[in-house]
Amino acid sequence: MKIQRIGIVGGGLMGSGIAEVAARAGSDVLLSEPTQELLDKARQRIVASLDRAVERQKLSESDRDAALGRITFTTDLSEFEDRQLVIEAVTEDEDLKKEIFRRLDDILGHEEAILASNTSSIPITRLAAATGRPERVVGMHFFNPVPVMALMELVTTVRSSAEVEAIAEDYAANTLGKTVIRAKDRAGFVVNMLLVPYLLGAIRMYEAGFASARDIDTGMKLGANHPMGPLELCDFIGLDTMKHVADVLFDEYKEPMYASPPLLTRMVEAGMLGRKTGRGFYEY
Ligand code: 3HC
Repeated sequence: MKIQRIGIVGGGLMGSGIAEVAARAGSDVLLSEPTQELLDKARQRIVASLDRAVERQKLSESDRDAALGRITFTTDLSEFEDRQLVIEAVTEDEDLKKEIFRRLDDILGHEEAILASNTSSIPITRLAAATGRPERVVGMHFFNPVPVMALMELVTTVRSSAEVEAIAEDYAANTLGKTVIRAKDRAGFVVNMLLVPYLLGAIRMYEAGFASARDIDTGMKLGANHPMGPLELCDFIGLDTMKHVADVLFDEYKEPMYASPPLLTRMVEAGMLGRKTGRGFYEY
C-alpha cells in the first residue's frame, strides 16, 4: 500500500507541523480539531509557517497555495473513513488518546488503514490494545519544528506487523524525506531517553546557582555546537511538556536522573511554560 491519504488528529505545534510537511510532499491531508476555534488556529499556524518558507525563498507562492489546497480541515472525525494512515498528535493524555484510537478503529473503512501516534511518552502497546487492529498500530515520533527536524523515530511493538512498519517507514523516509530510526516501545524511545536527562541536568545546574542561564546555554552552543542551549531548548519544548516527559521516564525507570527538578515543578505551577507563554528561564 502506498500512502496517499493521511489524517492528522490534533493541529497543535506537532500536528500542524506534520500536516504541513505531508501537504508539501503531495499527500492529501485531513486535519481535525474538536472545535472550529482550534481548527482556525491550526490553519493560521500552517499558513504562517508556509509564508515563512515563501519569504525565505524555499517555497514558491504557487507551491504554498497547492500545499494549502491539499489540506482539508474538519471538526468531524467520521470524515476520516477513507484515510490510509492516521497520525494522532493530541496532548499527552493517555485516556484521550485511547478514546481517539477506539473511535478511529471504528471509523476507518479501509481494513488495511494504519494508526500511528506521535506520542513521546505513552506506550504504543497500550494505545494499540484499545483497537481491534494492534498489528496495524505504530509510533511515529516527529521532532519540533517538524518542517526543519530531519528525524522520525519509528516505534514498533511486539504486535506491530513487519508490513505496517515498512509502510510507515517508507512514507516517512520516501514521501516526507525524514531519516528514520527504529526504537522499541520503551518510555523515551531513543532521543528523549538521552536528551531529557541532559536538559534536566541543565535545570539542576541553574537551580544550584552553578552558572547563569545565558552561560549554560552559551556553553553548550559554542562548546558542543548545539543549535540551542539546554535552557533555551526547554523553553522551546515547553516546560509543561518537559515535566510530563520527565515524570513518565521517572515512573518507568525510577532513576534520579529523570526526576523533575523542584525549579521545573515551581515554574510549571506558576504558569511559566516557556516560549508559548513568553515566560521561561530567562524571565525567572
Ligand atoms: N517551519 C519551517 N522552517 C523553520 C521553522 C518552522 N517552524 N523554524 C525554523 N525554520 C527554518 C528557517 O527557515 C531557517 O532556514 P534557513 O536557515 O535555511 O533559512 C532554519 O530553520 C533556521 O531557522 P532560524 O534562522 O529562524 O533560527 P535558528 O537558526 O535559531 O534555528 C531551530 C531554529 C531550527 C529551531 C534551531 O534552533 C534548532 O534546531 N533547535 C533545536 C531544536 C530541537 O532540538 N528540537 C527537538 C526538540 S525535542 C522534541 O521535539 C521531542 C519531544 O518529544 C519533546
